[in-house]
Amino acid sequence: MLINDQIVSIPEAWQDATLLEFLRDHAGLPGAKYGCGVGLCGACTVHLDGVAVRACVIPVAAVGDREVRTIEGLGQVGRLHPVQQAWKELSVPQCGYCQPGQMMTAAALLASQPEPSPAEIAQAMDGNLCRCGTYVRIRTAVQRAVELSRQAR
Ligand code: FES
Repeated sequence: MLINDQIVSIPEAWQDATLLEFLRDHAGLPGAKYGCGVGLCGACTVHLDGVAVRACVIPVAAVGDREVRTIEGLGQVGRLHPVQQAWKELSVPQCGYCQPGQMMTAAALLASQPEPSPAEIAQAMDGNLCRCGTYVRIRTAVQRAVELSRQAR
C-alpha cells in the first residue's frame, strides 16, 4: 500500500491488525486517534483512495494496493492544506484529540465537493464527534477552508 506517498509493506506479524493499529503502532503515524474503536466517533479518520474512512474498523490486510493518507501527509511544513490553515487561523481545537479526524473528514469533503453549502458541511461533519463541543468553530473553519481553496485555484 501507499501511505502518505511512501510504499509500505505489511510484515507478517501485522497482518491481523486494523489499519489504525498499523498506522499508529507500526508506521509511526500517531495522528489518527483511537476513540471508540467501533467506527462511530471519527477520531481515527484517514483517507483511503481519497475517501474518508474509519481506520479502526478496516483490517490493514484489506487495504491492498490502495493509497492511505493520514493527517501527517495532508499538508507540508510551510505549505499547509487549506483545512489545516483554516483550523490554525480560527484556533479550532480545544483538547485536540478528535481534530485530526475532523480535518481529514473536512479535506475529503472539499476534494469531492469544493463548494459545499452550510447544510452539506454540517451533514459531512456530523459523524465526527467532539467531546469539547467545538462544532461551531469546526463548521466555520470548513467554510474558511472553502474560501482558502477558492483563492488558491
Ligand atoms: Fe474509529 Fe471511533 S475510533 S470511529
